Amino acid sequence: MRMVDIIAKKRNGDTLTEQEISFFIKEYMKENIPDYQVSALMMAIYYQGMTQEETASLTKNMVESGDIIDLSPIKGHKVDKHSTGGVGDKTTFIVGPLVAAAAIPVAKMSGRGLGHTGGTIDKLESIPGFKVELTNQQFIDNVNKFKLSVVGQTGNLAPADKKLYALRDVTATVDSIPLIASSIMSKKIASGADSIVLDVKTGSGAFMKSLQDSKRLAEEMVTIGNQLDRQTVAVISDMNQPLGYEIGNANEVKEAVEVLQGKRIEDLRELAIELAAHMTILAGVYQDYSEATQSLESLIDNGDALKCFMDFIEAQGGDITVIQDLSQLPGSSYHMEVKADQGGYIHEMEADEIGVAAMHLGAGRATKDDAINHGVGITLQKKIGDYVDHGDTLAILNSDQEDVEQIISIVKNAYTIKPEKATRQKMIYEVIK
Ligand code: URA
Repeated sequence: MRMVDIIAKKRNGDTLTEQEISFFIKEYMKENIPDYQVSALMMAIYYQGMTQEETASLTKNMVESGDIIDLSPIKGHKVDKHSTGGVGDKTTFIVGPLVAAAAIPVAKMSGRGLGHTGGTIDKLESIPGFKVELTNQQFIDNVNKFKLSVVGQTGNLAPADKKLYALRDVTATVDSIPLIASSIMSKKIASGADSIVLDVKTGSGAFMKSLQDSKRLAEEMVTIGNQLDRQTVAVISDMNQPLGYEIGNANEVKEAVEVLQGKRIEDLRELAIELAAHMTILAGVYQDYSEATQSLESLIDNGDALKCFMDFIEAQGGDITVIQDLSQLPGSSYHMEVKADQGGYIHEMEADEIGVAAMHLGAGRATKDDAINHGVGITLQKKIGDYVDHGDTLAILNSDQEDVEQIISIVKNAYTIKPEKATRQKMIYEVIK
């Protein structure tokens, strides 16, 4: 088999066989195929697309290029959740304990990564003493005992994806739905769960800006999951504004705990219950959506989900007194207000830009060696649909730098205010099964 023939076949719009896909991944990993040929194939895929069978085969081969986590020592049906990424997304801290409170094991490996704020693991490190590195045995024991553990990613998961992604990043071939879908699903499947719930964000703060693209990505990922024997459900959720009111690290943990304490932060609570409902149905604990949502609402309201969160934090060495008194979480030296230049209703928010502002404050990493400042971030005061008078506070910047004029401008410009009334965003657009 020759790589040049595989490239030509895809360039001409033909379908690659399982053997051809397996050959290209295996030989590329052995460094027998140069980057320039793989770049050409990625570009051919970008233009010609892939069939469902090709996409599933690419995913399977990327999974098999590295370790596959064995979660079989954990009792019960393991369901994982993955978000395609958005601003202010702290749902894992609610969904994890909520699903655990419904007696379903949640064994989660999470990343740090680059972005507007830290990843799940960075956010958890806002809690003094919390350890994100456990031995495999501790991880398994904690899930068996407390039903929930979240650790930093270990092992060599889908290394072929890592290599391909780096190449796609510099050859303008990231934006291909089959390549994105297989990339995300290869890492999820290698993480070992029996079923997967995907939170596919759509809108100004999402990877996919249009509902149509988000839907195509969701459908593609669900098909891959089902073809590779992982029951998969995708929820398409709104990311035209940040989720909740807090963007950062410690402040996101605080907001999630407040939801677990029963505070009605509606968008965040709604999305967390929606994702948890599909996870519990896939695990077979609840029979239907209405039973699941009602039961999960009561697991928040009766304090069981909060108790699961506390047990999980304590089991990983975290100081739970900061959860009991959230004011002890890391904070910042300055609190600067972003004020509205005009009165009216908020019609739009550039969620991406608000994320960039949070990163400038030090809440996220621009390069992988940057340090995160857990105490800084943004607290929104107003969101889409709200009315403001001229001079009202739109947001507060929690900063350790005194001069934040430029960051104030970024946040101010992210808001679109108009005189006529604005409708509030809906949170859930569609569920793909
Ligand atoms: N995120 C991924 O993990 N892979 C992609 O290809 C794009 C976004």
